[in-house]
Amino acid sequence: MYPSNMMESIKKVEAAREANAVLEPARMTAEEKENLLSTYHPDYKQDEFDILKVGPNKGGKVPKELAAILQAHSRINPSEIDLSKVDYDVDVLVIGGGGAGASAAIEANEAGADVMIVTKLRIGDANTMMAEGGIQAADKPNDSPAIHYLDAFGGGHFAAKPELLYRLVNEAPEAIQWLNDLGVEFDKAPDGTMITTHGGGTSRKRMHAAKDYSGAEIMRTLRDEVLNRGIPVVDFTSAIELILDENGKAAGAVLLNMETKDILIARAKTVIIATGGAGRMHYQGFPTSNHYGATADGLVLGYRAGAKLLYADTLQYHPTGAAYPEQIFGALVTEKVRSLGAKLVNRDGKVFMHPLETRDVAAASIIRECNARGEGVETGSGLGVWLDTPMIELKNGEGTIEKRIPAMMRMFAKYGIDIRKEPILVYPTLHYQNGGLDITADGMTTNVENLFVAGEAVGGIHGRNRLMGNSLLDIIVFGRNAGKNAAAKSKETKVGNLSLEHVNAFAKEMEAAGIKTDMVSPKLLPDYTHKR
Ligand code: FUM
Repeated sequence: MYPSNMMESIKKVEAAREANAVLEPARMTAEEKENLLSTYHPDYKQDEFDILKVGPNKGGKVPKELAAILQAHSRINPSEIDLSKVDYDVDVLVIGGGGAGASAAIEANEAGADVMIVTKLRIGDANTMMAEGGIQAADKPNDSPAIHYLDAFGGGHFAAKPELLYRLVNEAPEAIQWLNDLGVEFDKAPDGTMITTHGGGTSRKRMHAAKDYSGAEIMRTLRDEVLNRGIPVVDFTSAIELILDENGKAAGAVLLNMETKDILIARAKTVIIATGGAGRMHYQGFPTSNHYGATADGLVLGYRAGAKLLYADTLQYHPTGAAYPEQIFGALVTEKVRSLGAKLVNRDGKVFMHPLETRDVAAASIIRECNARGEGVETGSGLGVWLDTPMIELKNGEGTIEKRIPAMMRMFAKYGIDIRKEPILVYPTLHYQNGGLDITADGMTTNVENLFVAGEAVGGIHGRNRLMGNSLLDIIVFGRNAGKNAAAKSKETKVGNLSLEHVNAFAKEMEAAGIKTDMVSPKLLPDYTHKR
């Protein structure tokens, strides 16, 4: 149900719909994209970033909010922690219970390692569960990993670490097969072949999906597999500091029971950080599509232990977060809506961009339309542009929306909006952390031995912008990779004396740099109380 000011604009959208549906908007040139990004994309707002004064990336630029938690106090005083009292002793410790952590644990278990997952919420409470549109893999005759590589490399501004992207695209078809064999119910044609669609910046249809709840379906399957294998999962327990051994190798973590506040010690031969993203940091005040636990914890843990960050200054703002109604402000409106034919139009019903430009370009284009050109629609809590969803059925026939994007239909129906008949309002929402901890192709950090990373906490797989569907893919490919390699490494590792000396050293470095702060990190959960 829309208010009257919006209804006037909707009339214009409706009047232009048939013509807009057949319109082929031009793609932007490289120069147009560069100009657009540098003027309107949030990553280019220099005053929203700080230069790090301490740690392995000293001198590097990161968002202000991230700088504050990277250069904050530990939650523990190392002198009060008894490292001789070990509560959990395992080969492989996985920190994080999302898709990357679950995939890593399954493969470590498969390799015969004694593996345990620790997660601050419950297994499956993670961004994976909230992923909608799909997972990319070049497994159709007209496609190849090489073409997938070129799409992703270009979309990421040629900044991806080649060896990581190479692994991502080459292991993608097998990842799909693995998930299919585990029981993921991908959308299939009557002959059993996978249904695939385009995403922004893809030159082939390679997005595999389970309607528009692909992440929930994948996470359901991985969680079942973890539990069926009897892999121990310690819920509601955060890792608040990594433990190194006397040789500086990762050797476990200090854990915090989120309910009792008890401190526990986990010793491990290898550690995998799979803590996910940072949407709940609300960089630059943006709303987010992310899960409640997405507070960049893994970056803090790794950084304080000496691991380098790569591209931590680049974030992904998903072009189409819900802008109205306010109750779902920032929630993800999957790119699949545009893959199925819906176009973005301004308040006068005019198409202002190609609907499948890459995400950073699409987000910047919407920001320009609203904030510079004055062509956005007032939502009551900001501005938005229309995503003309009824166009989908105009192009593909009645019933397409219910069949292909039922979750979107339900999300808006709760507020009296029938997306088969009415367009929806969207504006960019903080969606993904392009940067993270720097790893080699075997998943281990470049400078802390026995510390592995998988999923959104990794930097460099996608470069400076990620294409749709390459994140569900990277949690599987790099989750499995980390699990296998951490298990193998654990077999040749003898843990030395446990130490938290790096925590003291970091505190001293902060003091020497003159950093004064009351903040403690990792953040663990967002705090919304002061906003009310
Ligand atoms: O639009 C989406 O469904 C999001 C997909 C992704 O971030 O990969």
